[in-house]
Amino acid sequence: MLEINQNQKEFWNGPGGEAWVTGQETLDAAMRPVTEVLLKAAAVTSTDRVTDIGCGTGETTIEIAKHAASALGVDVSAPMLALATSRAEQAGLANVQFEQRDVQTAKLQPDTTLAMSRFGVMFFEDPVAAFANIRAQMTSDGRLCFACWKTPRENTWVSLPMSIVRQHVQDDTPPDPHAPGPFAFADDSRVRSILDDAGWKDIDLVPVDFDMAWGDSPEAAAHGLIERGPLRRIFVGDPSITEETKQATIKGIQEALPPSNGGIFLKGAIWIVTAKAS
Ligand SMILES: C[S@@+](CC[C@H](N)C(=O)[O-])C[C@H]1O[C@@H](n2cnc3c(N)ncnc32)[C@H](O)[C@@H]1O
Repeated sequence: MLEINQNQKEFWNGPGGEAWVTGQETLDAAMRPVTEVLLKAAAVTSTDRVTDIGCGTGETTIEIAKHAASALGVDVSAPMLALATSRAEQAGLANVQFEQRDVQTAKLQPDTTLAMSRFGVMFFEDPVAAFANIRAQMTSDGRLCFACWKTPRENTWVSLPMSIVRQHVQDDTPPDPHAPGPFAFADDSRVRSILDDAGWKDIDLVPVDFDMAWGDSPEAAAHGLIERGPLRRIFVGDPSITEETKQATIKGIQEALPPSNGGIFLKGAIWIVTAKAS
């Protein structure tokens, strides 16, 4: 019998985890505006006991722990958690812990008052079960606050390089917009229905657009977009793609990028989702 979320566990302990560990600084810089808007929406206080869902390499867990009583980062990826733990040690924070657990089924921090996440909630096989599991372990006045991506079309950092990749590489994988993955929560009515079925109240989604910084040069930006984003599945994951095709694609992406304006910026489009446990 397959373990639950097995594909995701393999991915995040394999190539996905590796891309996020090696790209941690690039990715955290690109997503800094999301961290800021998320922390503001979470309205964390010094008495909050926070659980960071799918905390990855720990940026948001560490940031929120600076304002909370305690923070637990939970994730399935051993390599990402190892980096998160060493970053928390370097920051000298004593109120942060990280645990390798599957949020869909596992025990979280008891009496969590705030469950939050930056892009760590879209990968569950059974999202209703996962959000019911989170809610069951919260105080009655507990809050939920997370960021998730809107559609690839609305995210220029995906749609622009994807249009170039498609000129060079055939991708026959039929897209399932609800399959676990970065864009599984793009549809706001689906998010509402999942949270409602899991028992959450006062569900609210606010759209936010922001500028993602992808580096100082077209070369750095093209590298980051291919290595760190969803394009990696097509471009890096397919061994049949020749070196010549790769080089032509990279050149095409570099030429299509907007001119540098103190860095290369592409639009990101997200939902900030909030809800109450009861
Ligand atoms: C896109 S990354 C975001 C990481 C981090 N929140 C950040 O913003 O840097 C998604 C994370 O969700 C984690 N994840 C996926 N499925 C999970 C599950 N069932 N339980 C816990 N973590 C999970 C992955 O291991 C990965 O670290």
